[in-house]
Amino acid sequence: MTTDLLKAEGLSNAYVDPAGGPDVKAIQDISLTVEAGRNLGILGASGAGKSTLMRILLGLESPDQGRVIFDGIDIHQPASKRSTPIRGRIQVVFQDPRNSLNPHLSVATIVAEPLLAQRRTGRQHQKQLVLEMLDLVGIRPEMAERRPDALSGGERQRVAIARALITHPDVVILDEPVSALDAPVRLQVLDLLGDLQERLNLTIILVSHDVRTIAALADYVMVLLKGRCVEEGSARELLEHPRHPYTRALLAAVPTLKARGPDGMSDRLDG
Ligand SMILES: Nc1ncnc2c1ncn2[C@@H]1O[C@H](COP(=O)(O)OP(=O)(O)OP(=O)(O)O)[C@@H](O)[C@H]1O
Ligand SMILES: [Mg+2]
Repeated sequence: MTTDLLKAEGLSNAYVDPAGGPDVKAIQDISLTVEAGRNLGILGASGAGKSTLMRILLGLESPDQGRVIFDGIDIHQPASKRSTPIRGRIQVVFQDPRNSLNPHLSVATIVAEPLLAQRRTGRQHQKQLVLEMLDLVGIRPEMAERRPDALSGGERQRVAIARALITHPDVVILDEPVSALDAPVRLQVLDLLGDLQERLNLTIILVSHDVRTIAALADYVMVLLKGRCVEEGSARELLEHPRHPYTRALLAAVPTLKARGPDGMSDRLDG
């Protein structure tokens, strides 16, 4: 049995420029392989194509070219042609929980949403699963009936993480999961993600412009520049010996960086 969980082959996607200019080539010829239990970090500046790639990996958008294979299934095939439902097995946490959480729903309802979509769990059991998951992400039970507005930014992002994990997905895609948070909260949430990854046996795909965020969680890193992959390799190798001038420039801005250790334990970041 292969350990390749997710594979993307030759993905390209362009958008029509609303201003009438040439099409925007958001990503060009991107291929990647995600092995189970090995976190992939996608690093690139604003506009590099990170979110476009993420939406395609999630199946939210179809590529102009290429395909995405998850556990042997082409995720962009119509559902009727797929052998197994993928729903719930790949989940996502977006950058800004202020926008990604419905302000009218309680925390408990938000976290339960993916379970409702699966229609597999009875109400009482659902409630219990939600409370367990909230506990796992560090949200106290009395917060379950609050609306997102009554939470701090860090707490909101914990709720978004709980929602993503409630179906016990194989892969979680994190699109700039901590960039909307203050520095100390950012570290707490990164620690939580590292901890959950080990406890729940998750595979993470992490998208960020921030080298330190990538270093905290990724085992393997791909660097995107203007929609193209300019460099990729193990996090340790790439972060300690960057080859491409663009990667070097990104790393030069954070001199005290350390990659995750080879044993999977994170050395984290200094400062
Ligand atoms: N729906 C769209 N319509 C038109 N152009 C788009 C669309 N989505 C993205 N683009 C363009 O594609 C390019 C890549 O955008 P994308 O959002 O994927 O980058 P990103 O790396 O996620 O950037 P950021 O770090 O700012 O989130 C940009 O030039 C962007 O303007
Ligand atoms: Mg983006």
